[in-house]
Amino acid sequence: MELGLAGKTVIVTGAGSNIGRGIALGFCKEKCSVIVADIDAKQGQAAADFFNKETGANAIFVQTDVTKRDSVQAMVKQAIEKTGRVDILINNVGWTRDLFFLEKPENEWDREIALNLWSVIHCIKAVLPHMVEKKAGAIVNIASDAGRVGEPREAVYSGAKGGVIALSKALAKEYGRYQVRINTVCPAVAVPQKPEEIGEQSMWKENIGFMTPERQAAWAKLYPLGRFTTPLDVANACIFLASDAGSYITGQTLSVNGGFSML
Ligand SMILES: NC(=O)c1ccc[n+]([C@@H]2O[C@H](COP(=O)([O-])OP(=O)(O)OC[C@H]3O[C@@H](n4cnc5c(N)ncnc54)[C@H](O)[C@@H]3O)[C@@H](O)[C@H]2O)c1
Repeated sequence: MELGLAGKTVIVTGAGSNIGRGIALGFCKEKCSVIVADIDAKQGQAAADFFNKETGANAIFVQTDVTKRDSVQAMVKQAIEKTGRVDILINNVGWTRDLFFLEKPENEWDREIALNLWSVIHCIKAVLPHMVEKKAGAIVNIASDAGRVGEPREAVYSGAKGGVIALSKALAKEYGRYQVRINTVCPAVAVPQKPEEIGEQSMWKENIGFMTPERQAAWAKLYPLGRFTTPLDVANACIFLASDAGSYITGQTLSVNGGFSML
């Protein structure tokens, strides 16, 4: 299969930890220049160094706060200055903390909407003019099945991720005529397996202890394929959708979830 990815520039937000780290590594293996756009300088730089050592790729860390318009605009400017182009954007940053709606502090709702929805709006706004001008581009937004079916204890997160899915479809309709494609990937539970996959700002930092091997094994039985999602599973879906092999696919939502929910 011809992917046509070599030499392209890919921005991956939140590429320092867990799923984003796996996605960025996947694109590095496809010989892309990868912008590691993460708020955590230590984690993001370590990830970029790791990608370059593993793959010989051109991964560049650019410290970015995706909840801030100016920071996102500056990151995209740097990406273009350093690599001359931006072809692909993977909006991966997201965050939640499981609590019932009425028990949740309201500032956590703000954080969920900022990290899951505003981040995607800011990043798309920053790259879209370049893609429209070139009449080419691919954007993959990482949402969640919570945004498709609704998840108890994740009500506002579900709303934000549902917003990402609807936003992707609307923009796919608006910008398809410029050959800019926008799709959404919904992972299921993906638990980091190594300490280096968890940065200080990862939502797993506080929760990894809860995911004991016994609990993971019990929950995995709920999945038809008998296991959780891995970052590689998500990376493969993003690579396909962003590549020439996915060139007739836009506005779609793909759950990469071992069959946990079938939509
Ligand atoms: N892991 C799962 O079980 C799971 C399941 C379904 C969907 N998802 C979605 O997948 C995506 C990745 O999840 P994860 O588990 O890898 O996340 P994570 O919390 O482990 O990693 C998030 C990364 O984003 C960075 N980050 C945090 N705030 C930032 C900011 N303001 N600006 C820039 N970078 C920032 C962190 O430093 C970290 O490197 C999210 O959108 C999440 O909602 C995850």
